[in-house]
Amino acid sequence: NEIYLNGLGGVLPTLPMTFAELEARAGRALPPSVWSYVAGGAGDEHTQRANVEAFDRWGLIPRMLVGATERDLSVELWGRRWPAPVFMAPIGVVGLCAQDGHGDLATARAAARTGVPMCASTLSVDPMEDVAAEFSGTPGLFQLYTPTDRELAESLVHRAEAAGFSGIVVTLDTWVTGWRPRDLATANFPQLRGQCLANYTSDPRFRSQVDADLDADPRAGVLHWAGVFGKPLTWDDLTWLRSLTTLPLILKGICHPDDARRARDYGVDGIYCSNHGGRQANGGLPALDCLPAVVEAAGELPVLFDSGVRTGTDVVKALALGASAVGIGRPYAYGLALGGVDGIVHVLRSILAEADLTMAVDGYPDLAALTEDAIRRC
Ligand code: FNR
Repeated sequence: NEIYLNGLGGVLPTLPMTFAELEARAGRALPPSVWSYVAGGAGDEHTQRANVEAFDRWGLIPRMLVGATERDLSVELWGRRWPAPVFMAPIGVVGLCAQDGHGDLATARAAARTGVPMCASTLSVDPMEDVAAEFSGTPGLFQLYTPTDRELAESLVHRAEAAGFSGIVVTLDTWVTGWRPRDLATANFPQLRGQCLANYTSDPRFRSQVDADLDADPRAGVLHWAGVFGKPLTWDDLTWLRSLTTLPLILKGICHPDDARRARDYGVDGIYCSNHGGRQANGGLPALDCLPAVVEAAGELPVLFDSGVRTGTDVVKALALGASAVGIGRPYAYGLALGGVDGIVHVLRSILAEADLTMAVDGYPDLAALTEDAIRRC
């Protein structure tokens, strides 16, 4: 209604109303190296494209005479009520997309304005305490890239607890970065020097060590301290991770039902089905096609989902396939690039509005009504 009313008043939106235009304009707005980093993926990006195309192979079936005039899309997750089953996926170094460099704070402010929770990345330009201070009551998750240094890993988790995050998302699929030809061809990040390490340099116990390493060899220093080129986590490490915190522990990157089942046995609190937006391994199944089996294997555990979500109807489809909440990734980074906090808010509100209207038109007044009966493969 807002959009039509604005239109009747002669006011047209200045920010894009379709994902295609959002992507095209963000591509023109960002420096080439940042664009290749955000928009690019692994290999020839087949999996990245397949993630998006997978949504076209599922169709929602509308129900009539339901009278879904009032919708309730809210969901309770790990003891907190989210106004909608939508959150912002962790995007490391999202600061690069913001004109003032403080994209993590901008994302947190957009979370506060929309009620859409943010999952804050370990690799941030702004320290997690500053990010969490912007939430204004909106729940937030902290995404952990588990550094090889266990003391540092523990410190990150305990700081996230103290800062008020309401869950820890442990990313499993990025202990080494994937083969990313676009980045290999164009990446040139002088501005990255140490900036993605705000969560380390803001810790007095590690600051001088990080600074000394960065001074000695900036590239090796960033790679070492980012901790993503370390020893991969194994199942045995989960017991240690579990013992670090009473916060909900959610494992990101689970695509195989057996992994979901095993994770449940280790006492985690949530599964996060994602293939990292096709940035890590090329040649994989679209994440959406992995979702139903992961949901079944996860049993009673909530399942977060991302990878390829571009519209409100994508959100509804992932929910119908069993996701408890759906992560928006690249679209909000593009919104940030075009319009700062307002740009993110615009992208999120557009996706939420489309999801809500899809539920209305299709006759699904709430999430309980949106079961697998609402969707078919086409
Ligand atoms: C990511 N993603 C990511 N995931 C994570 O767990 N920690 C991180 O720091 C990052 N960093 C990151 C940077 C950039 C530029 C992108 C685009 C993505 C992955 C992210 O959380 C999510 O899984 C994907 O973005 C989902 O794919 P789409 O929907 O964005 O294509």
